[in-house]
Parts: sequence; C-alpha cells; structure tokens
Amino acid sequence: MKKIWLLISALIFIIIGVFGFIFLPYFNFNVDSQQLEKSFSSFGEQIYFSGRGEDGRIIPYNYGPNWLRMHGGGCSACHGDNGEGGLPLMMSNTEASSITWESLTEEEHMEGEDQEEHPPYDKSTIKRAIKDGLDPAGEPLDNIMPRWQMNKEELDAIVIFLKDLD
Ligand code: HEC
Repeated sequence: MKKIWLLISALIFIIIGVFGFIFLPYFNFNVDSQQLEKSFSSFGEQIYFSGRGEDGRIIPYNYGPNWLRMHGGGCSACHGDNGEGGLPLMMSNTEASSITWESLTEEEHMEGEDQEEHPPYDKSTIKRAIKDGLDPAGEPLDNIMPRWQMNKEELDAIVIFLKDLD
C-alpha cells in the first residue's frame, strides 16, 4: 500500500510543478529587491538582464513583443548577454542590433540591413532610443524594440552598463 501513496504524492508534486510553471510569470511581480540587487554587480547590469529597475519594479514599456510581457526579461532577451545582438527574435524578422558602446558610437553604425544610415549615437541619443525608440536621425526604430519608461537613475545606470559592455 505504501507504493500507492508514493505514486499519489509524486502525482501531486507533478501537478504543483506544472501549475507553478504555467503561472510563474504571474507570480513573479513582487521580488525581494535587495535579493535582486545582490545577484548583479551593478544596477545597470540588473536592468540589462532582468528588466527590473528601482525597488525591483518591472520597468514599464510600450510596444515590444507579447512574449516579453509574458516571460519578462531585460535587454539581454534580445540583444544577447554581451550586447552583440543578432539573436533570432520570436515572431519577428527584425534583428536586434548590436548595442555595445563601440558599435553604437562608431561612424558606420548600421541597424538592420533594410535600415537607413544615420549619424553615430552619443549618450543622449542612446537614452532617447531607449525611451522613445528614435535613432540619431530621429527615425523610429522597429516596434519590436520596447520603448522603456525608465526614470533618470535607471537611464543613467543602463548607459553606464552599455559603456562597460565592450
Ligand atoms: C524584444 C526585443 C528587445 C528588447 C527586450 C530590447 N531591445 Fe533594443 N532593440 C531591439 C531591436 C529589434 C532593435 C533594432 C530596431 C531597428 O533596427 O529598427 C533594437 C534597437 C536598440 C537600440 C538602437 C540601436 C540601433 O541600431 O539603432 C538601442 C540603443 C537599444 N535597442 C537598447 C536596448 C536596451 C538598453 C534594452 C533594455 C533596456 C533593449 N534595447 C531591449 C529589440 C529589443
């Protein structure tokens, strides 16, 4: 009879596991912000990898794909761990560009192949791209790039992080 109970408890654990997996994105809203900070070596790194800003809040954004809303995530979800871009993006045929400081600020910075050429980025146009989705020429970026509603501290931190990415 012991075996039956073993089987039943195994089943219960599997069910809890499956439920947990499905609802994880919904339970994920409140994180311990101090715990979160500890897992990254800087505030900018936290934003880059988790999409969470001050006090662990999920940084709100406009546009961007639905899967990002479901699963959460930061810049690394599209631009890669090193900002190199080029990852295949779900439900899109646009590529996330390289956003290392070097490639953003070099003369011939190009976005996707079908994009117009534009002047190189500087600190303030990078911030504008992140917030308002405009390239240095003032042209809108693809809608898959979220428009992040960051506050000043968050913007400063992410720019410092991008500078260190090279
Ligand atoms: C859902 C995918 C996605 C996420 C998440 C994302 N980006 Fe992007 N990003 C893109 C795509 C795609 C482009 C290229 C848009 C284009 O070429 O029009 C882009 C372009 C950019 C650009 C302009 C580069 C250029 O080539 O003109 C910057 C700067 C940038 N992203 C920074 C960020 C930062 C910082 C974050 C995190 C806070 C972030 N992105 C998160 C998809 C994403």
